[in-house]
Amino acid sequence: MSGLRFPSAFLFGAAVGAHQVEGGNTNSDWWWWEHHAGTACVEPSGDACDFYHRYAADIALLSELGLDAFRFGIEWSRIEPARGEFSTAALEHYRRMLAACHEHRVTPLLTFHHFVLPMWVQDAGGFASPEFPALFERYCERSAAALGDLLGYACTLNEPQGLGLAGYVLGVNPPGRRGDHDAARRAADHLLEAHRLAARAIKRHTDAPVGVTLAIPDLQYEDGAKPGDLGLEVESRINDEFLALAREDDFIGVQTYTRVRIGPEGPRSPGAEWSEVSREMVETEATTQMGYEFYPRALGGAIRRAWKVAPGLPIVVTENGVATLRDERRIEYMDVALHEVRACVDEGIDVRGYIHWSLLDNFEWIFGYKPRFGLVEVDRQTFARRPKPSGYWLGNIARASRKGTAGAGPPRPPKADRAAAAREP
Ligand code: BGC
Repeated sequence: MSGLRFPSAFLFGAAVGAHQVEGGNTNSDWWWWEHHAGTACVEPSGDACDFYHRYAADIALLSELGLDAFRFGIEWSRIEPARGEFSTAALEHYRRMLAACHEHRVTPLLTFHHFVLPMWVQDAGGFASPEFPALFERYCERSAAALGDLLGYACTLNEPQGLGLAGYVLGVNPPGRRGDHDAARRAADHLLEAHRLAARAIKRHTDAPVGVTLAIPDLQYEDGAKPGDLGLEVESRINDEFLALAREDDFIGVQTYTRVRIGPEGPRSPGAEWSEVSREMVETEATTQMGYEFYPRALGGAIRRAWKVAPGLPIVVTENGVATLRDERRIEYMDVALHEVRACVDEGIDVRGYIHWSLLDNFEWIFGYKPRFGLVEVDRQTFARRPKPSGYWLGNIARASRKGTAGAGPPRPPKADRAAAAREP
């Protein structure tokens, strides 16, 4: 083991996204997209990991591994299957999931939106519709009213900075439009407003910290770097707008997978632009299955960047991981990434937790099931789970950090009182 130690209140966990693991999310725009001719999707999500039915065993397994935090999502298309019609049964299902976390003394971090819309919202114009912020606010309000007392952390939107580009410029996400920069900008504006409204709505029903989770690649500008109008930099500017808005929030979720070097010719790291991401999922010494550069130190750069733009705002690493078939590489990746986190804590940055992506091998959007991000392998026929050595490794780091304390304890009370605890050696 790598001798890493963290403050005893530091959260160690793993994440999943609802659509990527639940299975049968048929009332959603992604389900439509996966079955629509001519899209880049290599396969449909189908039953995914059947997490919708197997969540109790998965939460128990996460806890057995030694982890004490779980980030998962609720699915809008199940909670509000038609405009204005809310499903009590769906909300009760998610209440049972949150309760299962509490039974295992696992802090739940709940994501209200992770890429996917109900089909009726997409049909009404999706993120680009002026109705979007109010529709999202109403869904969050109803969900938080039903679930708020059980939340550990609340994440409004997952990686909203890229949704406009992916859906309206690159055409890799629904609705699959290309080159429509105006619609992408409108989507970004609506998502900013949606976060602002939703954060307030959720706060009316919970004491848990509320925030947004952002993909922040470690952008490294070299001498003579030419910024230009690259997708990455558009995303980066939108990130700054979210970070500015996040100053009113209780925390920020930082998510990163790699660095991107930007030289005089523009970005020059592998996988820096969507078009370069390999469909073959072949990893090399230098790159991951996704075609990204294998560069775990990126996490330090991302955390420092968030702290610089929003100083004083508590940070939780809500995603970080690597797509690889060689699990020992995952351990190497986490080891380096966690040393970066430790260095950030030592520099005085208020980092409160590390949530690995992902708990399970799962549905990786247009790339289907080939990329393996999980700490736990899932048999695609039987859905049987098998923890990988990396799962035990991360659990052991978590246990070692908690040693001498009475275990994870109930979900940690939020905000200010945790800042001091998180800084203890
Ligand atoms: C997303 C996840 C995705 C992961 C790995 C993140 O950008 O939030 O849904 O699976 O990256 O690519």
